[in-house]
Amino acid sequence: MSDLISRDLKHVWHPCSQMRDYEAFPPLEVVGAQGCHLHLKDGSRLIDAISSWWCKSLGHGHPRLKAALSRQMDRFEHVILANTTNDVIVSLSERLAALAPGLDHVFYAGDGSTAVEVAAKLALHGKKIQGSGESRFLALENGYHGETALTLALGDLGIYREAYREILPPVAFLRGLPYVDSTSHPLWTDCSEVWPALEKQLEENLAGLCAVVIEPILQGAGGMRFYSADFLRRLRAWTRERGVYLIADEILTGFGRTGTMLACEHAGIVPDIACLSKGLTAGWLPMSAVLVSKEIYGLFYGDYGHGKDFLHSNTYSGNALAAAVALEALDVYRDEDILGQVRRNQPHLAAAMGRVAAATGRLKNVRCLGAVAAADLHGPGTGSDARAGFRVYREAVSRGALLRTLGDTVYWLLPLNADPGVISELEGITLASIRAVLG
Ligand SMILES: Cc1ncc(COP(=O)(O)O)c(C=O)c1O
Repeated sequence: MSDLISRDLKHVWHPCSQMRDYEAFPPLEVVGAQGCHLHLKDGSRLIDAISSWWCKSLGHGHPRLKAALSRQMDRFEHVILANTTNDVIVSLSERLAALAPGLDHVFYAGDGSTAVEVAAKLALHGKKIQGSGESRFLALENGYHGETALTLALGDLGIYREAYREILPPVAFLRGLPYVDSTSHPLWTDCSEVWPALEKQLEENLAGLCAVVIEPILQGAGGMRFYSADFLRRLRAWTRERGVYLIADEILTGFGRTGTMLACEHAGIVPDIACLSKGLTAGWLPMSAVLVSKEIYGLFYGDYGHGKDFLHSNTYSGNALAAAVALEALDVYRDEDILGQVRRNQPHLAAAMGRVAAATGRLKNVRCLGAVAAADLHGPGTGSDARAGFRVYREAVSRGALLRTLGDTVYWLLPLNADPGVISELEGITLASIRAVLG
């Protein structure tokens, strides 16, 4: 064990980990990162197959983002955003407001979880201002919205929330979602056969309902699941008719991950509030943005001290370094046709995952949309106690890919501008790793 690893294990508590696992499989010593690759101390190179927790949309070390950061560092790095403004934050807000018609105002926070908290607080507070006082939230089965108490409550994933259930406010969940494997699935464009059962649940939960909180189209932490665009369209119509807010958590999906700038575009809808992070700064610096409708913004506009003030503050709200990178990232998306690259890569990703499934016979539910392909390990040696996914991850690292699985779900979530050659290499590594673990 290297000196650095023993110092690490003495003092660093790694996120989302059982620290004891590191005794057998120590943390990887990163000395550099470029494009789709991480460079390790031992001279090896790993494909970052999950874009470093889904945020490195433009890969590591993009030179234009580095230059933008450097330019801003020569001006100023961070100034309180209450009572001040600057050209960077104004330009960024204009560009973000242009992403979704009607979502004209942008509130900044530091990370994804906080953005969802801000959105939920705005919805609740907005209803209070209107005098109707609805205060209940409904979310989707298998959803995930972050790690703070409120966002854990909005998530449906027992492994993250169970230990804290005493402090989580009650949230209702919509079950029986019309999941699909691709946009060719019949439910993608027409979910009329399952809608009545979903609508019934919605109606049963209508009393006191303030907002429905969703990850649009793609549910990440809940197992990289895609659901019907028609369902999202119907949900938007239902929430609008019933006067319930729709909050779209686009923290994973925003900035092209599913092939459109926002995943809501697949359904041709605009939510009342949208939360952005991760790809916002292309994973360079922590920042989140909450896009808010004119109507909700208008509710809060008035004289100070009459219950209409939104007094949420985060120290790094609107951080200038992050804002400068985010602004440049939007230009890179345009200049390098990043959405076009996602469209061109999608068939390669789908075909490659299909080939791994066919060759190993150990993957089911192969699915692909935009720049995400996923499938679930199955058969002997899989299941919750066997930790097959974790063993595949370890094998993949030894073969050259950081392929962090979600339980038994194997997925590829490469930078959006990944070269098709990287997809082929990842295919070979995934295939060999599954064979090594499951035969
Ligand atoms: C859909 C979604 N919402 C919220 C979050 C939380 O974001 P953060 O980790 O920045 O707090 C995540 C993180 O993965 C996410 O995928």
